[in-house]
Amino acid sequence: MPPLTAKPYLRSVQVDPQADIDLERYPFTIPAVRELGVLEPHPDVTFFVGENGAGKSTVLEAIAVALGLPAEGGTKNVYREQQDVSPLQHVLKVARGWRWPRNSYFLRAESLFNVFTYLDDLGPDPRGRPSLHLRSHGEAFMAVLQDFKGEGFYLLDEPEAALSPNRQLAALTVIDRLVKEGAQFIIATHSPILLAYPRAKILSFDGTGIAEISYEDTEHYAVTRDFLNHYPRRLQQLLDD
Ligand SMILES: Nc1ncnc2c1ncn2[C@@H]1O[C@H](COP(=O)(O)OP(=O)(O)OP(=O)(O)O)[C@@H](O)[C@H]1O
Ligand SMILES: [Mg+2]
Repeated sequence: MPPLTAKPYLRSVQVDPQADIDLERYPFTIPAVRELGVLEPHPDVTFFVGENGAGKSTVLEAIAVALGLPAEGGTKNVYREQQDVSPLQHVLKVARGWRWPRNSYFLRAESLFNVFTYLDDLGPDPRGRPSLHLRSHGEAFMAVLQDFKGEGFYLLDEPEAALSPNRQLAALTVIDRLVKEGAQFIIATHSPILLAYPRAKILSFDGTGIAEISYEDTEHYAVTRDFLNHYPRRLQQLLDD
């Protein structure tokens, strides 16, 4: 018999149909937000992909805040100022599974500095490791990821921003271990490496809304593969005139 699991912890996300929303104003001017529909995350990993500005961080942040996590990243205990990130958080309906996990974290590469300061303020690392501020961006990011507990719900915004290709491969291994120990992730990413993770659903944000697509149908896979296979020719096309 498969093990009894409480996943998915986050079952669905939608804009409250009763809510009074202004389609002329941010964030409802973003097609993916306007056409959010009912978003049903995968029990293991859900990826948000799409062009810059497609609305991935907007939706991720609103989910974080709707679940009580800080918009600027961290655990429930990190800084609580500036929670009013967008009107979306007030109208988002999130449906949780029958049991919410003990651990949750919103990890954004761009605001790790604040999270590290918070962790330093808690006192010395129990395992005697140096302050996260004294490690490189990627080293610190991996340290936080490796400290995640199996039974947890994790939102990551562009984790690859901190990570070399090798560390992205290592991150896949960590994510897989955590998934098998009971974690659920939602990850906004542009990384063709991370997107290859198989126990996942890829949601593509574009001008028409949000749709599920396969790995090889993502632009990330196709463009990266094409460029690496033909880069001298592609450079010629891009740079010659
Ligand atoms: N506070 C705000 N007020 C008005 N517009 C905003 C605000 N914050 C973001 N936007 C706009 O909303 C759109 C979606 O931004 P968002 O950060 O969600 O994109 P994204 O998909 O995460 O992009 P990227 O891949 O570059 O991270 C962008 O066009 C952005 O300029
Ligand atoms: Mg973003």
